[in-house]
Amino acid sequence: MARIPDAFIDDLLARSDIVEIVGARVPLKRQGKEYAARCPFHDERSASFTVSPTKQFYHCFGCGAHGTALSFLMQYERLEFLDAVEELARRVGMDIPRDTRQRNANPETRDLYAVMEAASSFFRRQLAGSDKARQYVEKRGIARDIVERYAIGYAPDGFSALRDALGNDTQHMQLLERGGLFSKNERGHVYDKFRDRLMFPIHDRRGRVIAFGGRVIDPEDSPKYLNSPETPLFHKGRELYGLWQAKQSNQKLERLLVVEGYMDVVALAQYGVSQAVATLGTATTPDHAELLFRNAPDVYFCFDGDRAGRSAALKALESVLPRMKDGRQAFFLFLPDGEDPDSLIRQEGVEGFDARLRDATPLSEFFYASLASDVNLSNLDGKARLAERCKPLLAQIPDGAFGDLMRQRLTDLTGVGARASTPPPPAQRMTRGSPAQKPSLIRSAITHLLNRPGLALDLQTPYRFAALRQPGIELLSELVLLVRERPDISTGALLEHFEGRDDLAALQKLATLVLPGEESALREEFLGAIAQLEKLVLQQRIEELQQQQREGALDDAGKQEMRELLQARMQR
Ligand code: CTP
Ligand code: MN
Repeated sequence: MARIPDAFIDDLLARSDIVEIVGARVPLKRQGKEYAARCPFHDERSASFTVSPTKQFYHCFGCGAHGTALSFLMQYERLEFLDAVEELARRVGMDIPRDTRQRNANPETRDLYAVMEAASSFFRRQLAGSDKARQYVEKRGIARDIVERYAIGYAPDGFSALRDALGNDTQHMQLLERGGLFSKNERGHVYDKFRDRLMFPIHDRRGRVIAFGGRVIDPEDSPKYLNSPETPLFHKGRELYGLWQAKQSNQKLERLLVVEGYMDVVALAQYGVSQAVATLGTATTPDHAELLFRNAPDVYFCFDGDRAGRSAALKALESVLPRMKDGRQAFFLFLPDGEDPDSLIRQEGVEGFDARLRDATPLSEFFYASLASDVNLSNLDGKARLAERCKPLLAQIPDGAFGDLMRQRLTDLTGVGARASTPPPPAQRMTRGSPAQKPSLIRSAITHLLNRPGLALDLQTPYRFAALRQPGIELLSELVLLVRERPDISTGALLEHFEGRDDLAALQKLATLVLPGEESALREEFLGAIAQLEKLVLQQRIEELQQQQREGALDDAGKQEMRELLQARMQR
């Protein structure tokens, strides 16, 4: 898929109003030129979250959340980039450039989504019409509204119920096959894959049906659960059953609960725990871990208390460690033998289940408990063994307080540090600078530019200031060039360009400064700062030539240049 052009994004952001987008979701209070609110991304009592209509970005002084209208939609609504772009584009009535639209705009995939939806409707009608299936649903104690919410259905017995209903031409037959709804025998004969099964549709993050899981109704049949194969729409390592419904039922997900089965998810929802999701018959993958944390800061993994459960928990732990950025927490919950969340919530109700959640083991504890389970920490060899085991795992935790504490814990347990040496502190390019240099001038220019990117368009080319050898000048040049290329760019989008770079934090700080004064005065200040910088470039070149002169290396051309420069300096 081709990238969406930056110019389109700039235009899209220019036509959207971040105040409107945020304000529709978070109560905003006017505060001078900006708006303030309690940050929707972390718990707080004061209002550290600001939205700037002129800069078109939001910034939280508490947790550092920041971005454009697009990133707000991604963070708040938990949308993928392309989905957020679509959402904004729809609001302002723009069309996403044809060749860059995502795969669902591809007519073939669009038809595939449609056929999956049709299959889902078919299964639901069959459930309503089958006494046997409805009796099973009743026996399992699944309430009617849950059948609705999870769109549970029934695939009838026989080999061609779905095929007869939806496969009325070659094109539909092909679509049903690509959707993973058929099996094929050796002679190439195609028949319904799901037969006499209770059907759980799997929805993607936009609520489209992309696959199914089917449970046998007749206990003699096997396998007990059958899932759709991998298809163009469905990659089981990346999807979570029930995530769509969890997002629908919760304005803001404080936590997600990962359980093993479809029945667990629906039973929990029925009893009021509407934040449960299930992996689809696989271990928790790193993709799952990312998806989970992108949707909620706290993730609880529920496992059986048996050996298989412990080993599944260890797998989950490994997938989760590299995703443990600050602000995220993982917990492990082990259930009594022979029980699963479905059976437990029916016995204990939501209070009992909540009590178990409160008692869940934090990742840090589970980590050391399981890694040290067969190690004797009272002797040196045991400590060394634990340290060796932990190091590669600890190394995967992203930098931050959590990683530091985990490593500190290892040191406490063993006396051995997890790292041979601490890494050097990050370079502070913006703030360093000897007295001879003038970082404040560059800083001021950058601040103005971040506040009003359009100022860059007032500069004359060539950009002589870019030749200055001082910290921050490259950043300034980069900003100017960026605005030249993308004249409509907003402050928020400008900052986004620096995502993942060391400079981001410093730039962000400067971007949040509110510059007092009239528009024209601010422009003068900016142009004044640039003029000063160009003067310094002049000075820099003069000193260079003087140095050559002292070394006796100044040729005639150099002498001529020096004379001109000295004159220019006097005139400035
Ligand atoms: N599973 C699977 N294939 C199987 C068995 C199980 O994919 N043959 C997956 C399914 O996603 C299922 C989960 O593992 O939901 C848990 O399986 P299990 O514990 O056996 O079933 P329960 O969830 O307890 O379902 P039920 O209560 O209907 O027996
Ligand atoms: Mn069960």
